[in-house]
Amino acid sequence: MALRQLLGNIYGKIVNYLSNSKERKRIREEFRCKNIYIGKNVSFDVFSEFEGHNYFYDNVNLYASKVGMGTYIAFNSFMPKTKIGRFCAIGENTRTHLGLHPSKDWVTVHPAFFSNQGQAGFNFTNETLFNEHKFVDEEKKFVVEIGNDVWIANNVIILDGVKIGDGAILAAGSVVTKDVESYTIAGGVPAKPIRKRFTDEQIEKLLQIKWWNWDFDKIKENYKYYSDIKKFTDMFG
Ligand SMILES: CC(C)(COP(=O)(O)OP(=O)(O)OC[C@H]1O[C@@H](n2cnc3c(N)ncnc32)[C@H](O)[C@@H]1OP(=O)(O)O)[C@@H](O)C(=O)NCCC(=O)NCCS
Repeated sequence: MALRQLLGNIYGKIVNYLSNSKERKRIREEFRCKNIYIGKNVSFDVFSEFEGHNYFYDNVNLYASKVGMGTYIAFNSFMPKTKIGRFCAIGENTRTHLGLHPSKDWVTVHPAFFSNQGQAGFNFTNETLFNEHKFVDEEKKFVVEIGNDVWIANNVIILDGVKIGDGAILAAGSVVTKDVESYTIAGGVPAKPIRKRFTDEQIEKLLQIKWWNWDFDKIKENYKYYSDIKKFTDMFG
């Protein structure tokens, strides 16, 4: 009986190993075709979606996140359940999906009283009595939304429920507690608008052009026009 059980276990492990390695091979092939580079200890799951031409440096966490074409994410960034647009440059140690504890009506901040997740190894309730995350969408898939062509400098924290507009810049070390408008530089703790990057007319044109939705080859063909906002908006606006 014991031998049978042992053989059963070994068989199970071999089947598991083969199907895992088959799945790993399939993912490796898919990433190769889509030009996606994955560094060491990058975490993602079947709900994560990467559009292509992406580069994820070591220790990046992207559980259930969506990442648009051309976007790269630097070392040690923790960004689960985050919707990220195209051509974003995301610096080291970016953090989203922070979660909430009660700070107003509740007597306590301890999750054992309001959550069934057992954060401290025990809980007093099996119900969710307080929402531990704020979502940016009705389906409750994403806690933060980042537009296209956004630069996030190093060490930025973005709180749940926040949306970052296209072309925005988040300055180093910022804690972003509110939405940031398109083509606005925001910085500080809490982050406040520093300045707009372009004139209102230029911003309006860029938001109509939406160059990040062009075909990858069209972007490549026109790369030399990206160094001059005036010429670019006159030409394509
Ligand atoms: C935001 C940033 C891009 C500067 O943009 P800028 O338009 O050139 O800004 P300036 O240097 O002219 O500064 C404008 C104002 O913003 C303030 N500011 C600049 N960086 C800031 C920051 N990180 N946090 C808060 N305020 C900041 C300046 O003090 C200045 O304030 P003042 O007008 O009261 O004097 C830059 O400061 C930054 O954060 N760089 C990130 C570097 C980095 O992390 N690189 C690695 C990742 S790729």
